[in-house]
Amino acid sequence: MKLTLSVIKADVGSIGGHLRPSKRLLQTVEDYVREKGKDLFLDLYVSHTGDDIALLMTHKRGVGNADLHEMAWKAFLAGTRVARQQGLYGAGQDLLVDSFSGNVRGMGPAVAEMEIEERPGEAFLFFAADKTDPGAYNLPLYLAFADAMNSPGLLLSPKMGLGFRFVVMDVSPGEADRVIDLETPEEIYDLAALLRDPERYVVESVWSRASGEQAVAVSTSRLHNIAGKYTGKDDPVMLVRAQMDFPATGEILAPYHVGPFVAGAMRGSHQMPLMPVKLLSPVSFFDGPPIVSCAAFSVRDGRLTEPVDVFDHPFWDAVRSRLSDKSAEMRRQGFFGAAMLPMSELEYTGITERLGRLDRRFKRRREISPAAAIAASGEKIVS
Ligand code: F6R
Ligand code: MG
Ligand code: MG
Repeated sequence: MKLTLSVIKADVGSIGGHLRPSKRLLQTVEDYVREKGKDLFLDLYVSHTGDDIALLMTHKRGVGNADLHEMAWKAFLAGTRVARQQGLYGAGQDLLVDSFSGNVRGMGPAVAEMEIEERPGEAFLFFAADKTDPGAYNLPLYLAFADAMNSPGLLLSPKMGLGFRFVVMDVSPGEADRVIDLETPEEIYDLAALLRDPERYVVESVWSRASGEQAVAVSTSRLHNIAGKYTGKDDPVMLVRAQMDFPATGEILAPYHVGPFVAGAMRGSHQMPLMPVKLLSPVSFFDGPPIVSCAAFSVRDGRLTEPVDVFDHPFWDAVRSRLSDKSAEMRRQGFFGAAMLPMSELEYTGITERLGRLDRRFKRRREISPAAAIAASGEKIVS
């Protein structure tokens, strides 16, 4: 049976800054979807990760369905009204346009969707991250789908051994929807060369080369590209199918013990480790560290089981403890060097204005030499 898995998520307001939505806000969004969407979806799971609310829906309408997207948009609008009533911070902040026009993609909310042929024993994972951007999934996906040191299935399973096709998007401003297909294992170094720059290149989807089936869908939206200015971190969601032709659940989860430094945390402008957390976790230390939650599901005829909270396990307590130390270590160097993002990724323009003011106060000590002047102008020196 053909089944669509859709996740649509937005931050429409949160308590005490950017910590988590109120219970009333979450309930309002869920009630709206259950009431107005009951003829649209087969099953629904509503959750929050930090300040972001995510709607996971199963249905048969295919990806980018206008009715489903409009219903989700209106649910977030209903939530925004409650957020305003309660005085929540950032009410409606991810609803970047005034009116809905066919598809929430490009309007602020993050979307990850895939249409699948439901397998007997269909297992999938729903990830949601807060205080970071979509490139945060680059390394875990590379390790799970392309690195035999992480995923023994690449050696042991004949189908996984045929490798995967990665679709990577260039998310620079003005470059939306510029994508490249790369096949592993042959093009593994080309893939690594792109994924090392998570602010520019983002894995959008991964496909099995054995079956042609889609394994992964990531929300790739960069809010600053949509709004034309910085409006907060994108806080990406992701769906990953597990087992059989795809990596085992444990192979998909294992990379999260690394806790790589990713963009985000305080004012969306720092580098901090990506910490795997329990479902429904708020954010705390230094408006971070960036967090990622994961709910594992099985699904039959579009009906979801209850979620398993995969990062709620003693193993991950030890990882969290190590990553707390790693976070504090980075924070010790404050604004300096690698602790803060490069100018192009800072969420605020204040620093650009400050540097502009300072630049005008710089004084030249001596005249620039003729050779240096020519070199600076780009002309060749002929001797
Ligand atoms: C993401 C998030 C951050 C903020 C950023 C700016 O969930 O909350 O990316 O958008 O910290 O926040 P303020 O509103 O404090 O400027
Ligand atoms: Mg926020
Ligand atoms: Mg958020």
